[in-house]
Amino acid sequence: MTRSRITKAVVPAAGLGTRFLPATKAIPKEMLPIVDIPTIQLVIDEAVRAGITDVVVVNGRNKVSIEDHFDHAYELEHTLRSRGANAAADAVEAVSTMVRIISVRQKRPLGLGHAVLCGKAAIGNEPFAVLLGDDLIDNDTNPGIGQLAKVYEQTGSGAIAIMEVAPGQEHMYGIVVGEKDATGHLRIRQMIEKPKPGTAPSRWAIVGRYVLPPAVWPLLEATTPGHGGEIQLTDALRGLAESPEGLYGVVVEGIRHDAGDKLGYLRANLCYALKRPELREQVLALVRELAQLT
Ligand code: UTP
Repeated sequence: MTRSRITKAVVPAAGLGTRFLPATKAIPKEMLPIVDIPTIQLVIDEAVRAGITDVVVVNGRNKVSIEDHFDHAYELEHTLRSRGANAAADAVEAVSTMVRIISVRQKRPLGLGHAVLCGKAAIGNEPFAVLLGDDLIDNDTNPGIGQLAKVYEQTGSGAIAIMEVAPGQEHMYGIVVGEKDATGHLRIRQMIEKPKPGTAPSRWAIVGRYVLPPAVWPLLEATTPGHGGEIQLTDALRGLAESPEGLYGVVVEGIRHDAGDKLGYLRANLCYALKRPELREQVLALVRELAQLT
């Protein structure tokens, strides 16, 4: 059966970003740069490379900077071109044409599940992708969200990205349990949001990419506050896992960075800098120098 292609995505970016205060006092953490590109631009670039044309950004109290970033900046472009800085002007212009952005507001940070639900009116009755605005999956040739979209298109079931985490890290993630079926993917049986240390039933952790059918909307609407008093996406997904269509855990290929965490953010900056030919040797030399100094 051919199923509709995934062309719409929700990118939640309305969290408080408390781990990055005071940097996130006036700008969302999704706007913090990885080298010189805001995290959310890298996330949306992944979506665009997977064929997504419409992105619903869920904004919080600092919404202006994200909207402005993806908007035209005529004066800036004009000034740059008049100074002969055409490469910079092209880079600025390219951001404003990369995708259609629809901004919605999450008035209070009630949790990730609630943030996704804020995208309902803009997405409507079709399957869609969710990409967390502070989570990076680095894969230049096979975008992470595209890997999930393929599984949805083959099976008609929701698909969520999973990765095996190191022992002792399970309590920081949503953890899933299931069995591989004929598709080669994990048919999810059980989901636990941030299990207490030492109690996790597996090391398969949910990372910030999802392709979900519209059947998730009523499940989200019925979800009450769970772990941490927040409306959790994982709790709504449990309903999908229990439905006849089921829910697949897909081991995504790519290097994953949690850019919403200080160490993850620094690691992402180093990894992306090392990928840039003009920076690589200097960054390596810098790291060696600093390692000797301390
Ligand atoms: P996080 O839990 O990493 O975001 O949510 P946070 O709450 O901002 O983090 P800290 O702990 O305070 O530093 C994952 C993603 O979901 C979004 C965040 O912006 C992030 O992209 N989110 C979370 C929302 O949009 N709304 C919410 O209510 C919660």
